[in-house]
Amino acid sequence: MREVFRRLSPDAPYFPDHLVSIQSGPDSMIRHVWQTAAVCLVKDSPHPLRILEVGSWAGHSSLTWAEAMAKFERDGTLLCVDPWGRYFAAEDLKPEGTAYRAMDAAVDLDLIYGLFLHNIGFADKRVRVDHIRGRFDEVAPYLADGQFDIVYIDGSHYYADVAHDIAAAKRLVRDGGFICGDDLEHQLADVDDAFVRTNLAKDFARDPKGRGMHPGVTLAVAEAFGRVADYSGFWIMRREGDGFREVELHQAQVFIPSHLREVDKHALYAWMKQSGLFG
Ligand SMILES: C[S@@+](CC[C@H](N)C(=O)[O-])C[C@H]1O[C@@H](n2cnc3c(N)ncnc32)[C@H](O)[C@@H]1O
Repeated sequence: MREVFRRLSPDAPYFPDHLVSIQSGPDSMIRHVWQTAAVCLVKDSPHPLRILEVGSWAGHSSLTWAEAMAKFERDGTLLCVDPWGRYFAAEDLKPEGTAYRAMDAAVDLDLIYGLFLHNIGFADKRVRVDHIRGRFDEVAPYLADGQFDIVYIDGSHYYADVAHDIAAAKRLVRDGGFICGDDLEHQLADVDDAFVRTNLAKDFARDPKGRGMHPGVTLAVAEAFGRVADYSGFWIMRREGDGFREVELHQAQVFIPSHLREVDKHALYAWMKQSGLFG
């Protein structure tokens, strides 16, 4: 399969829309910039950087981690853990024509794993990219404590999985390192607790006020940390001994990753200029 993608896109990563290969809408592309900020803040670590990504899909966020390590002139390793298999609950697969069904169809043909391998082949050669094909709850027990500078959680968004992934990440991140994740549209304290708890069987739900959220992410993050530092859905906490603290990202150097679509780069650039948050 990788060879097919090589022929379709020999000189660049490939993120076709019909394979839902980019896992977030244009408004969420900013999280790639926050990813680069997180790497900037650990770049002075005295040893080669180690980042763990839980949930890689077609490698869109993986390439951002790899480019950030290279750009900040750090040797490093990115470990991607993903089963590249079906994971959506029956409830989410009932409606026809959803992205969930399209994603399941793509993994049934093993297209996404092939796409990931193709795309990751374009990662900067200063960065080593390893991957393990499996669910994180199967893989985590084999990983040693305190070895990662950053653990990024973007696997299954169902409550039990996120709760597991955060608990494992707490063990795997080094003191001073970061645990971060995607798709925290709303923190638990800001929405109706009962709504969140009654919608845990769904990947995504919209409350009566029209606010969209991933209920499993909202609840698991709140239970693990309370309120977290949240940058447009990208949440991040620093390990300090046995505790965790919010991370301030605005002072970090950032850049727009090269593999983003031109339209997204322009929108991000305009947003960054207008926000005045970045130098
Ligand atoms: C939201 S997508 C990841 C998107 C990717 N980080 C990006 O931004 O391009 C979720 C991914 O988590 C993977 N996944 C599902 N269950 C998982 C589990 N238990 N452990 C690790 N990964 C899992 C899925 O196969 C899928 O690739």
